[in-house]
Formats: sequence, C-alpha cells, structure tokens
Amino acid sequence: MAVGDSRTRIIQVGGGFWGSGWAREIDAFEHTELAAVVDVSPDALARTCDPIDVPQERRFADLGQALEQVEADAALVVVPPEVHADVAIRCLEAGLDCLIEKPFAPSVEEASRIVRRADELGRAIMVTQSFRFKRGPQTVRTLIERGAIGRIEAVDVRFHKAPHFGGFREEMEEPLIIDMAIHHFDFLRGILGLEPHRVRARSFNPSWSWFGGNAAAVAEFETPEGASIAYSGSWVSRSRETTWDGSWEIQGTDGAIVWQHNRVEYIPSPENFGVTVYTRDALERGDGVMDVPLVALPAEERAGTLHEFTSAKREGRAPQASGHDNLRSIGLVYGAVESTRTGDWVELPLARETALTA
Ligand SMILES: NC(=O)c1ccc[n+]([C@@H]2O[C@H](COP(=O)([O-])OP(=O)(O)OC[C@H]3O[C@@H](n4cnc5c(N)ncnc54)[C@H](O)[C@@H]3O)[C@@H](O)[C@H]2O)c1
Repeated sequence: MAVGDSRTRIIQVGGGFWGSGWAREIDAFEHTELAAVVDVSPDALARTCDPIDVPQERRFADLGQALEQVEADAALVVVPPEVHADVAIRCLEAGLDCLIEKPFAPSVEEASRIVRRADELGRAIMVTQSFRFKRGPQTVRTLIERGAIGRIEAVDVRFHKAPHFGGFREEMEEPLIIDMAIHHFDFLRGILGLEPHRVRARSFNPSWSWFGGNAAAVAEFETPEGASIAYSGSWVSRSRETTWDGSWEIQGTDGAIVWQHNRVEYIPSPENFGVTVYTRDALERGDGVMDVPLVALPAEERAGTLHEFTSAKREGRAPQASGHDNLRSIGLVYGAVESTRTGDWVELPLARETALTA
C-alpha cells in the first residue's frame, strides 16, 4: 500500500532485542506502516531492517534526520528506559503520537513529564503493556467483569523465569521489579480492576544470579476496599518456570479463578451453585472446577497493542494503557522499589497522578 493511505505511519526508534520483532509486527499489521527505523547502532539497524527489506532511505542513525525527512503519524519508542523521555518528547514535539515501551520511564516524575508534554501538545500516548492484549488475561478480565467471583479479596501471584538477556537489565539495581513486574502490577489494574493504595516489598539477588541487581522480589499490596495481594517473582528461577504472565489464584466473595500456563479455571463457591452450576462458555469438570475456554481476540501481544492504538485513534478515544493510566501502574513499581529501601509500607495516593500532571 502506498504511503499516505489510511494506515498509521510509524517511525520506530530502537531496533535492538525487542525492536527487531516490533518492526516485523508493524510491517505485517494491516493498519500500520513502518515509515522508518532509527538506531544509533548500525548493527542493530541492519538486524532489524534487513529481514523485512526496509529501504536504505528509511534507515536512520539520527532521530532528528528521520523526523525531518519522513512523513509519519506516530513513533514507537523501543530504546532503553533511561532514554524513553528524551526520545518520546522529541517525537511529540515533531507532531507525532507516541507508543512507548514499558517501563514507561525511570521514575514517576519523568513519566509525568512526558504525559504533561503530550497534553500540552494535544498528542496521544500509549504505553505498550502488550501482556494485557493476550487471550489468557482477557479471559480472566471477562470473568471478573461478569461478576463470576464477586468482590476480590485475596490474590496470589508467582512468576518464575530464568532469561539471559545481557545488556541494560543486567546492570539495573532492581531489574525484576522495574523491567518485569511492571507487567504483573499492570495486570492488577488493567485485568483485575484493583487499585492498590499501599505496598511493602523486599528484593534480593540469589547467590547464583547472573544479574548485577536484585533479580527476585516479594511484594504485598492492599486496596482501600481491603483486597490483599501477595506477589513473588524471580528472573533467576532454579525451579519450574511459569509463563511470562505468571501463575495466579484470585479469590473473591463468590468463588476463585486459577490462571496458569494459559489455562483458566473457575471455581464457584459451593453456596452459589444455583447460579453457577452452568457458567456461560465454561465446561464443568467433576471436582467443582469449570474450565473456561480462552476468548478470541482480533490480534494479540504486540499486534494487539497496535490494534488498540490504531482503533483508539480511529475512534477518537484514549487507548487502554494510555500515558495517564500507566502513571498508576509505574506508581506501583516505584512504590515497591521505595519500600525495598526503607522496609516500610509505602502509601500510593491514588491522587498522585493528578497531582503530578496538574
Ligand atoms: N513488552 C515486553 O515484553 C518487552 C520485552 C523486551 C523489552 N521491552 C522493552 O523494550 C525496550 C527496549 O528493550 P530491548 O531489550 O530491545 O533493549 P536493547 O538494548 O536490546 O535495544 C535498544 C536499542 O536502542 C538503541 N538506542 C539506544 N539509545 C538510542 C537513541 N537515543 N536513539 C536511537 N536508538 C537508540 C540501541 O542501540 C539498541 O539497539 C525497553 O524499554 C524494554 O523494557 C519490552
């Protein structure tokens, strides 16, 4: 399709480990076009652009040149978190909407700076919390929204992986909480519909860790309504791995959801069996457990993020995981980091976002 049609033209900034996959997604997705790729590293540029034949005139080592020479509608910021704000603000000021990789920025204050600038310029921001746009979490969200388990009061989350990334993650002070748990903490809000108001956390680095900073952590959250959330995660797991989503047990007044390995089980509380003996779409097993088939989605993960970004633009609404929304998710992350330093509960005023962006 020719440049200038109704597809969203995206300048992608960053073509490293995650960026190379992003370029393929943008190139393949029906409502987007890869307008240009920018990376300060010639090797990264070639690794990202060669497999999908990005023409030489659309490859840039310098963001300024790309912004001057290429017509575009939006930018995808997929560089290390420390440079998200600088790159995003330059793109916003060049008139582009921005998709910004998680974690949004290295602090709530810096993320607020990006949100404020976008508001001033009337541009849209979405943070690419791509985990939200997957069948497992969307199935869980549908069940919760239907009221299947009533009011949520207790949540247990375990995450175990052992990836060898190299690069910036192995030098971060709190890689697990900041670069990984952001997905799980964002699930609490975007999938479970909970808004924690305080957090207490402890992080540690097992002796066998290949990370410089803390690759494991435990965190507790509470909501003003009295829900309690227990999280434990490790990026250097010696044990059996979970999926990237983690393994979840969610208990409410009317039942529980067990979500692990992309399987969603619904366990209605026995006293509600008159209502739940038949649960829409679910299949009963003999042990009081209903198997819930995963919902169908038009697109998943990074393609799901692009689907949401372009649909929101067409429909003139804020996207899910907008910049404003994500201030609360990274508020959970940096609240947890603060608690690892003090050992105390950290209050997370829900008004923090408003205060910082006022
Ligand atoms: N959603 C997910 O599941 C997921 C997975 C992996 C990474 N990510 C996120 O994606 C982002 C990038 O991670 P990565 O693993 O690809 O990192 P990376 O280090 O592999 O790649 C980053 C690239 O950015 C380039 N770069 C750095 N500064 C630049 C600048 N100012 N202008 C242009 N290019 C610049 C580097 O040369 C490098 O090629 C991070 O925010 C990370 O957390 C998200």
